[in-house]
Amino acid sequence: MERLDKFLCDSGVGTRSQVKPIIKAGRVTVDGAVVRDGSMKINPEAQTVCLDGNPLGGHRRLVVMLNKPAGYITATEDPVEKTVMELLPAQYRDLKPVGRLDKATEGLLLFTNDGDLLHKLISPKKEIPKVYYARHEGTASPEDVEAFRAGLTLRDGTVCRSAGLEPLGAGESLITVCEGKYHQVRRMMASRGMHVTYLERRKEGTLELGDLPRGQLRELTEEEILAHLIDF
Ligand code: URA
Repeated sequence: MERLDKFLCDSGVGTRSQVKPIIKAGRVTVDGAVVRDGSMKINPEAQTVCLDGNPLGGHRRLVVMLNKPAGYITATEDPVEKTVMELLPAQYRDLKPVGRLDKATEGLLLFTNDGDLLHKLISPKKEIPKVYYARHEGTASPEDVEAFRAGLTLRDGTVCRSAGLEPLGAGESLITVCEGKYHQVRRMMASRGMHVTYLERRKEGTLELGDLPRGQLRELTEEEILAHLIDF
């Protein structure tokens, strides 16, 4: 453990006196939370310290994209179920999943060691659009498209924000949502009488799953992180 202000000095941010106002201004976060007390003790091995959102101290920012197969829950551990962490090689085991996909849902799932980025990507305020491909009972009608656009109210009274519904033909649609309520896409479709039989996330922000094979993962480059997840 070491003091936060010393860690910032050692990381080349500046001298003790230069670092102090930077911390006071709220520009430094530890695991995503703003810290204004330079005397706070941190563990640089286990915690991510960011200045203006950029990780410090050689703790390289990592974002990994997984094409999640069905059958794994999005959790870091579980006594019963298989978790998505089991799909990650050992060097990525300290990353955290960004948001959640249901056990039965496949497709794009991100993991990162950057607490600030994680927070940004899952914050409902940021309204990052996520695109899902669904196979379902019935066929989406123009009235369904309009109901999605207007904002659905689910059977339990949950009010959803405006969402996109693009029918691809009989029993197939693309759905775009900017929030991540529990089983949201399945429940939205069910509220219009279209039970979902298959669901895959294909896009998050401007980042696409592409042709990454199911069960495989790849590291995003810093250029991809900036272009698709930060400056888009
Ligand atoms: N909506 C769902 O219903 N399930 C998911 O996994 C993601 C969005």
